[in-house]
Amino acid sequence: MRIILLGAPGAGKGTQAQFMMDKYGIPQISTGDMLRAAAKAGTELGLKAKELMDAGQLVSDELIIGLVKERISQEDCAKGFLLDGFPRTIPQADAMKEAGVIVDFVLEFDVPDEEIVKRMAGRRVHSGSGRTYHVIYNPPKVEGKDDVTGDDLVIRPDDEEATVRKRLEIYHAQTAPLINYYQNEAKQGNGAHHKFDGTKPVEEISQELANILG
Ligand code: AP5
Ligand code: ZN
Repeated sequence: MRIILLGAPGAGKGTQAQFMMDKYGIPQISTGDMLRAAAKAGTELGLKAKELMDAGQLVSDELIIGLVKERISQEDCAKGFLLDGFPRTIPQADAMKEAGVIVDFVLEFDVPDEEIVKRMAGRRVHSGSGRTYHVIYNPPKVEGKDDVTGDDLVIRPDDEEATVRKRLEIYHAQTAPLINYYQNEAKQGNGAHHKFDGTKPVEEISQELANILG
């Protein structure tokens, strides 16, 4: 099963990816997590990406396309994958199409901007795995600690309000056009497009996803 998760920053892509990864046994490919790991490792690519990410800007299409092509050619992706945060621009979507990557589902999460700004203030992440929590809506079992490893949770540097607003601006300009793009693809029989109300509780959305994915 090949799935694309589409939605604004903070719409819940990573949160629902966690659920689907466990339920369907397919890997989550989060381009954001991959870039953050590269930044942490201090590679040249990572450090360059970190500067852009912290400013709420996108990294170049060329770089991201190369990274994703390499990742999906790995063995654990043979049965399928969840693309989280990619494609994010029309050229990225075109590159996947040209590479012959056929998707089964495009799952869109819809959340109003103001709700996103509020949400991001409460997000906490486990930097080793990318596991995501919210202090109120999706709290860890022990405050400030990751459920699996017990490591400290951190605040993402790009979750500051001004940066979130910049990311939302870029989302509307560069990523939102993909909704139309994949609706048109679906009309031609390429990947079913489903839209979800991302303001519902986490478990309710997971249930709706399970109803569609089986
Ligand atoms: P990336 O890491 O992909 O960030 P993003 O797309 O901005 O998305 P987020 O991770 O912020 O949000 P999410 O939808 O996963 O929400 P989450 O589940 O965490 O990218 C970061 C940066 O990397 C980019 O800005 C860019 O610089 C670069 N980059 C990455 N991919 C790129 C690409 N393809 N091209 C170019 N550059 C790229 O949820 C958010 C919060 O809400 C959490 O606290 C969660 O617990 C809570 N929550 C989730 N669901 C609910 C709910 N239903 N109700 C209440 N709270 C909820
Ligand atoms: Zn995410």
